Formats: sequence, C-alpha cells, structure tokens
Amino acid sequence: MTPEEFRRYGHQIVDFVADYRTRVAQHPVMSPVEPGAIKAQLPRVPPEQAEAFDAVLRDVEQVLLPGLSHWQSPRFFGYFPANSELSSVLGDYLSTGLGVLGLSWQAAPALTELEEVATDWMRQMVGLSDAWSGVIQDTASTSSLVALICARERTSDYALARGGLQGDAPALTVYVSQQSHSSVEKAALLAGFGRAHVRAIPVDHHFAMRADALEKSIRDDLAQGLKPCAIVGTSGTTASTAFDPLTELAALARQYDCWMHVDAAMAGSAMILPECRALWAGVEGADSLVFNPHKWLGVAFDCSLYYVRDPQHLVRVLSTTPSYLQSAVDQRVKNLRDWGIPLGRRFRALKLWCLIREQGVEGLRQRIRRDLENARWLEQQVKETPGWQLLAPVALQTLCLRHEPPGLAGEALDRHTQAWAERVNRSGAAYLTPAVLDGRWMVRVSIGSLTTERAHVAALWEAMRAAAESVHPA
Ligand SMILES: Cc1ncc(COP(=O)(O)O)c(C=O)c1O
Repeated sequence: MTPEEFRRYGHQIVDFVADYRTRVAQHPVMSPVEPGAIKAQLPRVPPEQAEAFDAVLRDVEQVLLPGLSHWQSPRFFGYFPANSELSSVLGDYLSTGLGVLGLSWQAAPALTELEEVATDWMRQMVGLSDAWSGVIQDTASTSSLVALICARERTSDYALARGGLQGDAPALTVYVSQQSHSSVEKAALLAGFGRAHVRAIPVDHHFAMRADALEKSIRDDLAQGLKPCAIVGTSGTTASTAFDPLTELAALARQYDCWMHVDAAMAGSAMILPECRALWAGVEGADSLVFNPHKWLGVAFDCSLYYVRDPQHLVRVLSTTPSYLQSAVDQRVKNLRDWGIPLGRRFRALKLWCLIREQGVEGLRQRIRRDLENARWLEQQVKETPGWQLLAPVALQTLCLRHEPPGLAGEALDRHTQAWAERVNRSGAAYLTPAVLDGRWMVRVSIGSLTTERAHVAALWEAMRAAAESVHPA
C-alpha cells in the first residue's frame, strides 16, 4: 500500500471508527451470533491475488461487526470497563504507524524516554512516592509473572544463575488469597513454584485476605521446613472489589522476609482520586505493584503498568545483552527490554501520554467520580427494593447483587440468577457478568464505560427487574 492509498483508506477507517463510536449504543451489547457463524462467512484459504482494500473494509462492516460484543457501549456492564478513549486510540494509531521497536534505548530513544515520563506521571497521579520506578507491560498477568520471578530470585539468591528451582532446597511458597485473580496462580505456576506450594489464604466476610490466616499459613510452612517467598495482595478483587489489608500484609512480608506484590489491576485507576487511596493504605510497603490503565482509566488495550522499588534487582533478573544490542550509552540509559519478558517493545507510552494530555488529570478524576456516584445510586436502589440483595460492600464501581424471590434457595436460586442475567444479555439491552461468590451465583454489575451516564444505569436497573420478574413472577 502506498502512502497515498494509506491516506485514503486511513481516512475511511477513522470515519468508520468515529461513526461506530457515535452509534455504538444502537448495537445489541452482546453479539447475538452463534459459534462458527463468522468463520462460515470467511474463505478458508488465503487470497492468491491482491484484493482491493475496499473489499476488506466491507467485510469488517458486514461480517466482523455483527460478531462483536460492544465493550465501548454505554450499556456495557460486564467484566470491567475496558475504556478506550479516542485520544488514546489516536496514540495507538501513531505507535503502529511509526512502526518503531524499542529493543534498546538506542533503537528508539524517544520510545524509552516517553515511557519513563508517562509512567512517572501515572506514579504521581495515583499518589505513589518517588521510590517507585515504572515500566509498561502488556497485561497484569505478565506483570505478576515478572513479580513472582523476581521474588523467587531474591529468596533463592539468584538460583537462575545456578540450577534454577531444580537445584535448590527447600521449596519456596507463595501466598495469594482465595479471591485472587486466576492470573496470579498462573504466574506462580509459570514461575516454577508448583501448585503444591501456592497457598490460597481464606478471606473475611468482606472477601479480603485474613492476615491472621496468612501468618498461620506462613508459620505452618516454616514448621514443615519450607521457605516462604512471596505474598500477593489484591487491591480490588475481580469478583467483588475487595481490598486486602496491605499494611498488615507488608508487616508480615517484612517479618518473614517475603517479597510483596500488589495486584491493583482494575482498582488502581481509582487511586487518581485522593479520597480512594485509603483503600490501598500500606501499598508503599510492597516490592512491586501492577495496575492497568487499559481498564477503567481509558487507555486503549494493552497498557499495564508495573512498578518496582528496586529496579536494579529487576534488571539483574531479566537482563540480556547480546552483542548486537549493546551500545556506547548503555551505562547512561534505561534499556527497557531488561524490565520485562519480551525483547521487542511497542511504543505503548504514546497512548497513555495522549490520554493524559488530552483529558488532563482533572478530566479523568471527574469521570471516575461520576462512575462512583452512579454505583452509589444503584446501590441505593438495590438496598431499597424488597427481594434484591447486595452481597458485598460496594467499594468502587462494581455491585454484586442477586434477586432472591421468597422460597428460592440453593441450586434453584442459582438457576434463577443465571436465567435472568442471560435474559438481559440476550435482549441486547445491556451486558452483565454472572459469577460465583461464596459458592453461589450472583451478578456483577460493573459500571464505568466512558459514555455510561445515570440514565443508562437507571435503564439497566429497570431491565434487570423486568428480566427477574419475567423469569420468576412474584
Ligand atoms: C484483579 C485482577 N488482576 C488481574 C487481572 C488480569 O488482567 P490482565 O488481563 O491484564 O492480565 C484482572 C482482570 O480482570 C483482575 O481483575
């Protein structure tokens, strides 16, 4: 494609995305397609001859679009807000269009230095001290994997330079909570700890990790001759946005010489509001921290921020210096390949930088506050309505709720919950995620899409009540 053709089709694509965003509320939020329906419309073999790009654009609109659930819809209340602010989308376009790779500082100096600046802006925005240094990873899953590898290497005195985990005894243990995200256990397994050495610590009635149970588990392991290595606290669990007591976890990490990692993937965005920061009090006692501005904050996926207090340790664990990547300035710069797993690095900082500059920190704060107020409004409605229950504190913007008609319990109640949630989702009016909490199905309502206003939340509340009533009339 020549630059002139790119200009023509590029303008069409920008128009297409702008129209899509303008009209996104008109689509059924959950895609109605059946499995296999999209593949059935696409050729099984690649085109031998070049095709006109118009044909590609036509297929995007006619074949692919109906096969999407619309995460940017104001009526999207599923999973978590994965906001993709249009200024950030432009940053992402720019990154792809410039086509540079940050294999080293020298390979793209501005890529590295903008990443340093943008991650430091975010550090200040969420109120972290300047003891932290940040880097952009693709996802929280990767960040947590890096954290647990660094924990393993600190406890084992850099076993990777010897026999790895195979060579050393005693076995190392990791402590997560029963409500930790599955990516944390996966990270522990990939980092080589083994399932037998991952402890899922019980939670309290607010679904936060119990520090007393954590200490007991650590002591039991020590008594067995095992070596406690890492504690992972969550600020904002996936199911119910519970906040683990980080101050107590950090004290135990210090006492038992463990690495402490904090997973604030979703809730980290809320920390741009000073009034929310008490929720992660104690975070300064951690060794590493991840949060995802590609969730609620509005950076186009993917942009996960990983902060550490000891960058030298991180670099010692992850650095690679083949001759072709060395340069005369290596002693004076950061080579971000040494701060994560992949060698190649996209210019992701652009989309974070574009978002912060175009919205301003105050603009971002106002939007997050709007979402918190909408969640509080819905919380009030649920509390005031007979037959409806809130199952967890509404710490931020997620509600865990259930419609409990008299006489329904156990599996019958589970079936009812899933049936009315499915009815809402199938109607196309909104998208919700049912999940299990405390052994029973409930429905998570995650508020905070960019364009979700009070009227959308009110319409959702009506749709939920109507669906629950029609599945189980009073
Ligand atoms: C608390 C928490 N941690 C980790 C993740 C995983 O995030 P990612 O998709 O960036 O790996 C999620 C995603 O929902 C999450 O809620």
